[in-house]
Amino acid sequence: MTIRSRNVDEAEHQGPRRTSGCRHEPAYAGQAIYSPTTLALYDLVVLGLSNPLVWRCPTRRILRLYDQYVTDNHLDVGVGTGWYLDRCRFPSLAPRIGLMDLNPSSLAAASRRIARYRPEQFRADVLKPVAVEAPAFQSIALTYLLHCLPGSIAQKAVVFDNLAPLLQPGGVIFGATLLRIGVVRSTAARVLMRAYNRKGIFSNEADSVQALRAALDQRFRSVEIDIVGCAALFVARDRRD
Ligand SMILES: C[S@@+](CC[C@H](N)C(=O)[O-])C[C@H]1O[C@@H](n2cnc3c(N)ncnc32)[C@H](O)[C@@H]1O
Repeated sequence: MTIRSRNVDEAEHQGPRRTSGCRHEPAYAGQAIYSPTTLALYDLVVLGLSNPLVWRCPTRRILRLYDQYVTDNHLDVGVGTGWYLDRCRFPSLAPRIGLMDLNPSSLAAASRRIARYRPEQFRADVLKPVAVEAPAFQSIALTYLLHCLPGSIAQKAVVFDNLAPLLQPGGVIFGATLLRIGVVRSTAARVLMRAYNRKGIFSNEADSVQALRAALDQRFRSVEIDIVGCAALFVARDRRD
C-alpha cells in the first residue's frame, strides 16, 4: 500500500526524512514506544485493561463515539493498532479511510487490521504542517493522540491547524485524550500517568479540561466535551476561519 504524504518542510526542502528515527525531534518520544512487539500487546493492555481499570473510560464508550461520528470518508490520526476502525459501524459498507501516523509500525498494523477497506496511508508528524496529495475527509478522529504530544495543550493544539486543510467544510473532528488536571484520577491512574510522563510516552502533565476547551473553542464554533474517568471525549465542528 502506498504511503502518500510528508511534512511540508520535507516536501519543500530535502525530500522525506525518517522523522520518527530522529531522537532530537519533539515528536520522537510520543511515538517511539509503538513497535511491532508493543503493538501486539496494545489491545490487551491499553484497550482491555488500562481503559476500564486505570483511566476509568471503558473502551466501548470510545467505540460509541466512533459509531456516532465516523463518516464513510474518514481520516484516523494516531492509529495504533486500528482497533476502533475495525470495530466501529461505518455508514456504508465501503468507506474511504485514511490512516495517518508518524510511526511506520502503527501504520502497518492498522493498515493490516482493516485491509478489507483498502485504507490510504499517510506518514506524517502532525505537529508540523502536512502536505497531502489527497481529497479532504468528512470526519477526522484523534484518539489518544494529544496526550502523547509534547508541550502544553495550547501548543499541541497546532495539530488542529495542521489538519484543517484535510477536513471538508461541514466535517467533524472527534476523539479522546487523557488529562491530568480537572478530572478525577484513580491512584493507579496517578501512578501510571507519572511513570509514562517520565518516560516521555505521555506528555500530559499540564493538560486540563479548561485548556482543551479553550483550544477547541478558539478554532471551532461547535464544541462538546464529555469527561469519562480521566479521559476527555471531544467533538468539534464548524471551523472558525
Ligand atoms: C496511544 S496510540 C493511540 C492509538 C489509537 N488511536 C487508540 O486509541 O487505540 C498513539 C498513536 O499516535 C501516534 N503518534 C504519536 N505522535 C505522533 C505525531 N507527532 N504524529 C503522528 N502520529 C503520532 C503513535 O505512533 C501511535 O500510533
